[in-house]
Amino acid sequence: MAETITITDNRSGESIEIPIANGGVDASQWRKLLPNVWFYDPAFSTTAAASSAITYLDGDAGILRYRGYPIEQLAEQSTYLEVAYLLIHGELPDQQQYETWVHDITYHTFIHENVRKRFMEGFHHDAHPMGILVSTIAALSTFYPDAKAIYDDDSRYKQIIRLIAKMPTMAAGAHRHSVGMPFVYPDNSLDFSSNFLSMMWKVAEPRYEPNPVLSHALDVLFILHADHEQNCGTTALRVTGSSHADPYSAVAAATTALYGPRHGGANEAVIRMLTQIGSMDNVEGFIADVKSGKGRLQGFGHRVYKNYDPRAKIIKQVADEVFGVTGKNPLLDIALKLEEVALSDEYFTSRKLYPNVDFYSGLIYQAMGFPIEMFTVLFAIPRTSGWLAHWLELLDRDERIARPRQLYDGAPERDYVQLDQR
Ligand code: CMC
Repeated sequence: MAETITITDNRSGESIEIPIANGGVDASQWRKLLPNVWFYDPAFSTTAAASSAITYLDGDAGILRYRGYPIEQLAEQSTYLEVAYLLIHGELPDQQQYETWVHDITYHTFIHENVRKRFMEGFHHDAHPMGILVSTIAALSTFYPDAKAIYDDDSRYKQIIRLIAKMPTMAAGAHRHSVGMPFVYPDNSLDFSSNFLSMMWKVAEPRYEPNPVLSHALDVLFILHADHEQNCGTTALRVTGSSHADPYSAVAAATTALYGPRHGGANEAVIRMLTQIGSMDNVEGFIADVKSGKGRLQGFGHRVYKNYDPRAKIIKQVADEVFGVTGKNPLLDIALKLEEVALSDEYFTSRKLYPNVDFYSGLIYQAMGFPIEMFTVLFAIPRTSGWLAHWLELLDRDERIARPRQLYDGAPERDYVQLDQR
């Protein structure tokens, strides 16, 4: 059977046969037959906006791989910084490459004093840390004007290292500011995740010693969040990057997209929902409300996964390890009951709504002491490496500037009416 589709324009009777390659058809062929007839797909549900070699996702089978490596193997055997290297470079590093990479990131963790003093401390005391983070990332582009040299390999590498390294410093700084605690400088003798925990929690002790179980759990969560192909934030990154904006501006755009409750903000929404449900006895009533259209079951459903999100499975295991140290999050029982009730309910099964990455991650973050406003920030830290991998890929593949079409359905031409005659 031919791996092609045929499109016929019934107005003219003309047809065109288009090959199906890598699961897609080339829209430029469509354009040849149907100039000025646009493919209407507002949320890109049926549009592949890029071809990419970074992340493979099969939503029906619940499979996720970075550069071909199954997420389960990476979560069990790798580290976040190694995964960041893999995403950026396409291959796992050898010993020497790994050491250089870790060294370079470790020694770029400090931020310019003016970024901290003038920008971060300038925010109102109750500013949301995601708002602080987005603005601070964007501000970095003014501190590194060399970032505009996007076709210079040395400059690219420098900005990538800086962004990955400084995200935890800015993230922890946003938290410290919002609770009125002094900023903690990076401790470059600690690994990536432990250093972040030190900047978050250090008080008066000369050196913060994070619990290794919690550092490891955070590192696994960072691996799971590092990339997820063409989601809303990555699309924002690619669209912004396609205009040849510098990488700080492009990552700030992606972080802004991540902020929303339908995307990276969902982990925050899950905890608010569980707190509002309050008790196991209220679970059935809450599910009935969701089914009657009163809100959504946060942390459930996904545009691409029509099966259990493989990241949610791993996160459930990590939760057990974390609760072994911190004690169980009292909201866990409500979450487990919600999952049980939803997964045996026809409304959710027929729509293929399963727990996604955000359903359990918030419970872990909360047990580790993170305020809920920090949850999306915790997502942005590792996603930065994925975003930068996409940024490099779109530049290397010389993609054109993103510029979709629209179907105009507004007013026809009409004459301007003077204000006093309206
Ligand atoms: N609770 C109840 N019903 C839902 C839910 C939900 N969480 N998600 C989807 N549905 C229903 C929806 O009402 C619709 O029903 P019907 O066909 O009767 O109108 C059907 O399922 C399809 O939903 P959709 O809105 O067309 O699906 P979508 O692909 O546009 O949205 C989603 C995907 C993730 C935005 C959505 O499932 C949602 O709002 N989930 C809750 C928020 C959430 O957990 N987001 C995190 C996503 S994973 C991490 C990330 O991407 O950052």
